[in-house]
Amino acid sequence: MIKGLVLDLDGVITDTAEYHYLAWKSLAEKIGIKIDRVFNEQLKGISRTESLELILKHGEKEKTYTEEEKQELATRKNEEYKTFIENITPADLCPGMEQLLMDAREMNIKLSVASASKNAPTILEHLQVKDQFVGIVDPASLKQGKPSPEIFHKGADLLGLSPAECIGIEDAEAGIEAINRAGMFSVGVGSKESMKAADYFVEQTAELDLKTLVEKAEAH
Ligand code: BG6
Ligand code: MG
Repeated sequence: MIKGLVLDLDGVITDTAEYHYLAWKSLAEKIGIKIDRVFNEQLKGISRTESLELILKHGEKEKTYTEEEKQELATRKNEEYKTFIENITPADLCPGMEQLLMDAREMNIKLSVASASKNAPTILEHLQVKDQFVGIVDPASLKQGKPSPEIFHKGADLLGLSPAECIGIEDAEAGIEAINRAGMFSVGVGSKESMKAADYFVEQTAELDLKTLVEKAEAH
């Protein structure tokens, strides 16, 4: 029986995936690297430091910077990203999310957040939904990021539930793999191609209907 929902944040609860992309694109340009939306798909769900490594590799600059300089570049990206998220309001919840949170309350389904982002608590506060979640997994506590199942195991632990009692929702390929490896029913938001590993997928968050998700997961 499904009793919990473990949600990714960026690109699922709110569309910060776009802000991450813009901030990385701007940083990459400053150091002479071009990235586009296709390349950006790989960065979804991946930690700040790992994202920077992938960008440097893409620009064949993986040996150009010292660890200290790389840290400085990641901080610069985060500073620009923070200017975007400062302006987040409850109106920035992804379409259908308010309804999903309401349905979860009515159906007695507990919620937690499994995001790689260190900015997750601030964003949930700006969206004014933080108190609807039992907990937020602290990404600093993880030995391994997505696609390791660790973050989804912790998300279920926060709810006092087993992975089989939870549904995981993600927009990142690495995230779907993490949910699947955690032994949780995986719901993807995105194109059929990028979400092909998901147990169930929708193209837009507006199509996420909690009753349907629970039915699909329980029939799985
Ligand atoms: C994930 C995003 O949720 O968080 C990634 O999908 C991002 O794009 C990662 O790099 C880390 O976020 P932050 O806010 O700690 O830099
Ligand atoms: Mg995401």
